[in-house]
Amino acid sequence: MALSPQWLDELRSRITLSGVIGRTTRLTKAGREFKACCPFHNEKTPSFTVNDEKGFYHCFGCGAHGDAIRWMTDQRGMPFMDAVKELAAEAGMEVPAPDPRMAKAAEQRASLHDVMAAAQAWFVDNLASPAGTQARAYLEKRGISAAAIREFGFGYAPDDRGAIAQALSGFPKEMLIEAGLLIDVEGKEPYDRFRGRLILPIQDRRGRVIAFGGRILTDTPNAPKYLNSPDTPVFDKGRTLYNLHRAAAASRQTDRIIVVEGYMDVIALAGAGMGEAVAPMGTALTENQLELIWRLVPVPTLCFDGDSAGQRAALRGIARALPMLKPGHSLSIVTLPEKMDPDDLIRRDGAQAMEALLAKGETLLDAIWRFERDAQPLRTPEDKAGLKARLIEHTETIQHPDIRSLYRRELLDRYSEFAFPPREQRSGFQRGSFQKGRGSFPGRPGSEPPSGRLKQLTPAAARNRLITAVIVGLCRHPGVIGDESNRLAALHPDDAVQARVLDAMLEAAETRKFTAEIDSQPLETGEVTSILQRRGLALPDRESIGGMKFAFLSDHAEEHEATRGLVQAIELLVERPAIETALAEATARFAEDPEGAYAEQQRLLKRKLEFERRLMQMAASRANASA
Ligand code: UTP
Ligand code: MN
Repeated sequence: MALSPQWLDELRSRITLSGVIGRTTRLTKAGREFKACCPFHNEKTPSFTVNDEKGFYHCFGCGAHGDAIRWMTDQRGMPFMDAVKELAAEAGMEVPAPDPRMAKAAEQRASLHDVMAAAQAWFVDNLASPAGTQARAYLEKRGISAAAIREFGFGYAPDDRGAIAQALSGFPKEMLIEAGLLIDVEGKEPYDRFRGRLILPIQDRRGRVIAFGGRILTDTPNAPKYLNSPDTPVFDKGRTLYNLHRAAAASRQTDRIIVVEGYMDVIALAGAGMGEAVAPMGTALTENQLELIWRLVPVPTLCFDGDSAGQRAALRGIARALPMLKPGHSLSIVTLPEKMDPDDLIRRDGAQAMEALLAKGETLLDAIWRFERDAQPLRTPEDKAGLKARLIEHTETIQHPDIRSLYRRELLDRYSEFAFPPREQRSGFQRGSFQKGRGSFPGRPGSEPPSGRLKQLTPAAARNRLITAVIVGLCRHPGVIGDESNRLAALHPDDAVQARVLDAMLEAAETRKFTAEIDSQPLETGEVTSILQRRGLALPDRESIGGMKFAFLSDHAEEHEATRGLVQAIELLVERPAIETALAEATARFAEDPEGAYAEQQRLLKRKLEFERRLMQMAASRANASA
């Protein structure tokens, strides 16, 4: 399939988005845009906007965001290619023809899909028939509702070696073998793979059945509890996540994906109102599976059992994720109480207990720190050196240079503090908080109406003004220079004077670190100004920041409040260009994976828009205390 970004741009430019959306949603004109009550969530006052110039819709209430294609897939529930075809027809454009070899393979897969659909229908019939009595009793015993049985498509495979070939006699036996429904061993008549088992269909992203999982009805020591379909032309274990098609839709409302270990956990979570759960096929998460969920949400949650096997699995999952970290992509790690899976927990303590646990997820960095710190006692210098080596080993696998240095710095800071506790507690300077703060950023999208002043500021001017304020802020709170040196080094101001001032500050903090490792006093304001003076650099005066007061420059703010505001401003300034880079990467991947690259591009565009708003809001904000 040869859909290129250029082709999609052309399509977008030929389509009037308000015309497409206006067919099903009442739009009212508001300046250059259109407004409506958001069709993605329930609301009384309109926060949904459509911008024909940009070709995007955006809801400031729920964050729904996208172009015409996205509208068709998300609002009208169409598969990606169908949406593209319908819009192309409307725009008078020809969809590029797929390559003939690919077309042949697709045809073969299509017929396997028919076999799987027929098998699924037959398993469902069996469950309702007299043969399914024991399976129905099992489902009842586990408290699975009739609605869940229907929704998840539970079925039953009778305890018979020749039943499926007879039931699906319309298909050649070779196809049943290729679909993994019959087992073919030399010298024997092919026989049913699933016998006397409860059947769970495994579906692809479009909801087509591509495999089955079969559970025995009575746990017996030597029989495998679950039997799964083998890999087939339509089923690749490592590229499939159970329940992804339902979870993807649910995640748009909640911005959350929960990865659990078992099929039954997914079903229990859905029953408890958490429809955005997925599970791998009984194996550790693969890179491909991680990519799939990162396309949906920036920080998916991974749930692991509290026992040692679960914790080893968690560490494996983390190790898999580290090399793949990208700006804005991370994981939240949730550990369940010992000997419990999410299904058990919900059954025992209810949905709120699960929600509470999910809300307390650890950051990836906290989880690594905890695992390694607790892995072995720290009695000897060798133990300490071992901990340090393990931490560095983790960080070395991170491919992204900025993220690698941030992890390294934060983990080594924690290590020093833990292995060599300070002799006396010094106060005043708050450590740069890598894990905190994101969520409490002032001015999340939708929380404040944009002010008149905000509209006059261009993003470049907002950035410049914020950098100036950050420099003044760093001089007032010099402890932040050392804590945030990695990010500050990645800031690259366009303005040459700003760049030189920042460099001088970073150098001062570095020198301080090397001259007096442990007993050093924090860098002081006076020192910073005198270093600047020696280099003929002056701090910007209040006038040059437009007389504006930033929260972190307020004379009345608590030190920790001010430093937190300052750290957030720095984060914002650094992350925005990183999104730009990621966008360019996603665009470059279009040729090999149009659907995936498209989804990633949409996600990043949305994030970019959010960051732009935050940046503008921060640059225009006044400190409460002194405004
Ligand atoms: P679990 O045993 O945790 O699954 O295995 P579960 O869903 O909680 O099972 P119940 O509650 O006892 O019914 C986790 C996953 O590992 C795979 C399955 O994908 C299962 O959901 N598995 C497990 C197998 O493939 N084969 C097995 O024999 C066991
Ligand atoms: Mn279970």
